[in-house]
Amino acid sequence: MKHKIGLLGFGTVGQGLCEILLNKKEFLKKKYGFKFDIVAVADFKFGNVYNAKGLDIEKMIKEAKAGKKFTQDLADWDNLKLIKKSNTTVWCELTYTDLNTGGPAIDHVKTALKSGKHVVTSNKGPAALFYPQMKKLADKNGVKFKIEGTVVAGTPVINLAEGPLAGCTISKIRGILNGTTNYMLTEMEKGMAYDEVLKVAQEKGYAEADPTGDVEGYDARGKVTILANIVMGAGIKITDVPCNGITKIKPADIEKAKKQNKRWKLIGSVEMIDGKVEASVKPEMIDLSHPLAGVMGATNALTFTTDLLGDVTIVGPGAGKIETGFSILTDLLSISREMEN
Ligand code: HSE
Repeated sequence: MKHKIGLLGFGTVGQGLCEILLNKKEFLKKKYGFKFDIVAVADFKFGNVYNAKGLDIEKMIKEAKAGKKFTQDLADWDNLKLIKKSNTTVWCELTYTDLNTGGPAIDHVKTALKSGKHVVTSNKGPAALFYPQMKKLADKNGVKFKIEGTVVAGTPVINLAEGPLAGCTISKIRGILNGTTNYMLTEMEKGMAYDEVLKVAQEKGYAEADPTGDVEGYDARGKVTILANIVMGAGIKITDVPCNGITKIKPADIEKAKKQNKRWKLIGSVEMIDGKVEASVKPEMIDLSHPLAGVMGATNALTFTTDLLGDVTIVGPGAGKIETGFSILTDLLSISREMEN
């Protein structure tokens, strides 16, 4: 079958996904039998467009890069009407994250699932706040709700826990879940000032639209909540997770850590203790000999503590245009595979 893809949001991730899909179109068809058209795009800045036979994505990328509104296949329909009425089979929800309300993404996700359309998202809002409800809605409507890109971009974390690690009991997940703060701590250790390095992290596109979410640890807290609920079935709320960011770390603290052969890392942790899941986000001084101490810059890393394999650590990019675009591709391919079986 040919997948009819719709995109909600045509920002960094949406454009990254489109670049991958365009560049790999033939490879995806030949190797995985994955055939698609991108038929609908809704973006508050560039406009809403729809063509049941497929949009001219190359042209749209050019227009978006030039900061211009879309000029072809313009649709009168608002986002929800486009989701419902178009011939789309799968929606990629790539709008901005709101960890307080989940909106507007949550309305997009609900509408798509209720309309019997799959949803793939890198948006942490719906995943951190409403995963159990959305999974139930997806199951009820016979479609998939896939969220690999919400934690550590395309580096496989959720799919690793659900797929290759299935059968293991996972008792602890611990690691570096935010690229911006890890980059900042790395540069601050080299002597760069906090404000200066935050600005560079924003310029490099690691930070959220409002970087408070990164430096106060809220972004990592969203990811910890997702892991706790999906991998450990914790049923916790984001506000249940104690959270401290890196804003209070001063050059003197960095020097203190150095003298003790240690280094500051913002650590997200989920642990099963006496049958209860405890989760937190906080900066910790860790020994330089610890595997997480060597993870520098915007790279993320997570260690799963399992009963059958011991510790399994995955290290990889946690942010970025292509890296997050890939997370959407990986979930699209798995939906395609699951539908064929
Ligand atoms: N701002 C996030 C980070 C992006 O720095 O890790 C990915 O969620």
